[in-house]
Amino acid sequence: REGSILVTGGAGYIGSHAVLALLDSGWRVVVVDNLVTGFDWAVDSRATLVRGAIEDDELVRATMREHDVRAVMHFAGSVVVPESVTDPLKYYRNNTAASRSLIESAVACGVKHFIFSSTAATYGTPEVVPVHEDAPKAPINPYGTSKLMTEMMLRDVAAAHDFNYCALRYFNVAGADPQGRSGQSTAGATHLIKIAVEAATGKRGNVSVFGTDYDTRDGTGVRDYIHVSDLAAAHVDALDLLIVKPEASHTMNCGYGRGYSVLEVLDAVDRVTNMKLDRRMEGRRAGDPAELVADNSRILATLPWRPERDDLDQIVTDALAWERRLSERTDR
Ligand code: UFG
Repeated sequence: REGSILVTGGAGYIGSHAVLALLDSGWRVVVVDNLVTGFDWAVDSRATLVRGAIEDDELVRATMREHDVRAVMHFAGSVVVPESVTDPLKYYRNNTAASRSLIESAVACGVKHFIFSSTAATYGTPEVVPVHEDAPKAPINPYGTSKLMTEMMLRDVAAAHDFNYCALRYFNVAGADPQGRSGQSTAGATHLIKIAVEAATGKRGNVSVFGTDYDTRDGTGVRDYIHVSDLAAAHVDALDLLIVKPEASHTMNCGYGRGYSVLEVLDAVDRVTNMKLDRRMEGRRAGDPAELVADNSRILATLPWRPERDDLDQIVTDALAWERRLSERTDR
């Protein structure tokens, strides 16, 4: 494990779990995060935290040199889909333009490997589910477009420079570190499992079910929920692959390859808590596809990675445990 890994957005939800996975597998880690949506306490004390913007070339390049950075894992960005519709330029700035600066800094500093947080939102509303990486990329919101544009930059930079990358397209990320070291902490959640565990811990009164007339087994939306610690582990394996085979780049779905409906998720929360959530049946939320499930055959064929926490009740149990810890903290 020579050199260190620069993790942007390492104070955020998924980034902080990747920091743990890297540290636990023996890497040195330096985090660059502006702490706009992240928290300094979310960064494990074994890592170095540099507070700043990824488009601050001077800061990023100094950090790359000082810490002998070997690879970048790029999590920083804006992630709220409806906000991307009302404020698209924020997404093209924080996701696309900031990524452009970061990639340029990596090339300038001779950092040859790059792992990028992409999204199933790059597919838009897929025609075939489970969705394969080669399916048409047709994002239906600026969030998805801003991420797809970054994938395209990476592809072109890898063709032109001594540089390879792995774009990981996340499906629905949920859960929390099973050891209770991190979890989803950002206020104003929109994600189903986060909202459900907030309701289960009394932070909100009820849970809305958006749409009960989809063409799915029970009429509610179906998603492929992946445990955040499994997702973090996939990043560490992807990093190893980029280093061992520097001539190849990859784009891979990150999901378990099967979906759960909204009602199945809420049933799991009821089971785990032994309570009954107050469910409110409502109309569809704009822009939601009926079903989004990953074809994960490529990641299974490419990486040694295997799902270890592919269990909805486990995902809910870990999310709930984190939600309870969060309530105990006064500074959260
Ligand atoms: N849902 C509810 N009630 C809620 C919240 C969500 O019924 O209070 C439903 C949604 O309608 C959907 C499912 O639960 O059917 C999951 O919704 P989330 O908001 O948890 O997640 P999304 O599938 O909308 O979003 C995820 C990622 C995005 C990404 C998107 C498309 O969070 O970053 O998938 O790939 F863009």
